[in-house]
Amino acid sequence: MNTQTSTKPLRWGIIGCGKIAVQFAEDLIAHVPNAVLSAVASRSLDKATAFAQRFEASHAFGTYQAMLSSGTIDVVYIATPHAQHHENTLMCLEAGIPVLCEKAFAINTAMVKEMVAKSQEKQLFLMEAIWTRFHPAINQIEAIIKEGQIGEIKHIVADFGFKADPDPASRLFNPELTGGSLYDIGIYPLFISKLLLGKPAEVKAVATFTETGVDMNCAVSLAFEGGATASLFSTLAAKTDTTCTIYGTKGKIHIHGRFHETFGFTLTVEGQEPIVFQTERKGNGYSYEAIDVQRCLKEGRIENDRLPLQFSIELMELMCEIRSQIGLVYPQEK
Ligand SMILES: NC(=O)c1ccc[n+]([C@@H]2O[C@H](COP(=O)([O-])OP(=O)(O)OC[C@H]3O[C@@H](n4cnc5c(N)ncnc54)[C@H](OP(=O)(O)O)[C@@H]3O)[C@@H](O)[C@H]2O)c1
Repeated sequence: MNTQTSTKPLRWGIIGCGKIAVQFAEDLIAHVPNAVLSAVASRSLDKATAFAQRFEASHAFGTYQAMLSSGTIDVVYIATPHAQHHENTLMCLEAGIPVLCEKAFAINTAMVKEMVAKSQEKQLFLMEAIWTRFHPAINQIEAIIKEGQIGEIKHIVADFGFKADPDPASRLFNPELTGGSLYDIGIYPLFISKLLLGKPAEVKAVATFTETGVDMNCAVSLAFEGGATASLFSTLAAKTDTTCTIYGTKGKIHIHGRFHETFGFTLTVEGQEPIVFQTERKGNGYSYEAIDVQRCLKEGRIENDRLPLQFSIELMELMCEIRSQIGLVYPQEK
């Protein structure tokens, strides 16, 4: 079991020196107590060296495996494309390193289950990096709902859209890199509905496609036992409000855009004036998940009690059900 017992800073490593790795590194350095960015690994040593210099990491490696066997890290953040997550996670756990791995967790449910089984076999921490789960706004919204201020949830509307550069080789459009709106951003509307309403009883999905054959637009309707429904949407073709509204029997909560990294929300209880809440979001918003990973490691956990691995399994099952309805099969599955 990987218990962080000493007060020495936890030594983080990063796999894949792309865009999100930069954002995470900025937050780790500025906003995560008792943490240090010790090492970074890239497929290119020059790239890793430049990244390490920029963020004052002590070690740079030209292969992922070299970092894992170097003895320079206590925990790793995997920031590669979705299609690489399965292989990279197994590699890290095999090397005895606890893992925080970017979303989407893998290509399909079988892969996610294999990752979870490996973490159990090795008794090592594993978590999907759904950063939104740890944001102060979400904590506050959950508390308000629990107190019954909006009554029973009856419907959730959530969208996430931006106009992406349609480069067929990019990870957003390339099927080999598990492209498409659903896995990249549609996962956030699905996440919030799952967090607040659980597992849906019924799923209906439609999509339109890019020339490369991945989903450009994806619209999903969900129905839940107990009578609630959800309308969720993602697109790579247009900038949308990227908000979320939770409708209850006594009122509603509107999470301001972009809801997955929000700075606030509006609570409207029927018969009362709306109340606007400004919520904290330090830096880029990635410190909260990293701090919670550190809490879990300190407590000797192999999964996060606030974002259990079963949640990630069910989220992937839902995305796979949606893919089967819209007819999206990734090359690795053919
Ligand atoms: N939580 C969030 O808010 C958020 C936001 C954006 C992205 N993400 C997630 O983070 C992951 C990475 O996204 P990103 O936008 O940072 O992507 P990116 O800029 O393309 O970076 C991904 C990195 O992965 C490495 N890599 C390994 N195998 C690769 C391959 N076959 N093709 C391309 N790159 C490969 C590369 O690093 P090296 O060359 O250094 O090895 C590359 O720079 C995705 O899973 C995405 O969903 C999360």
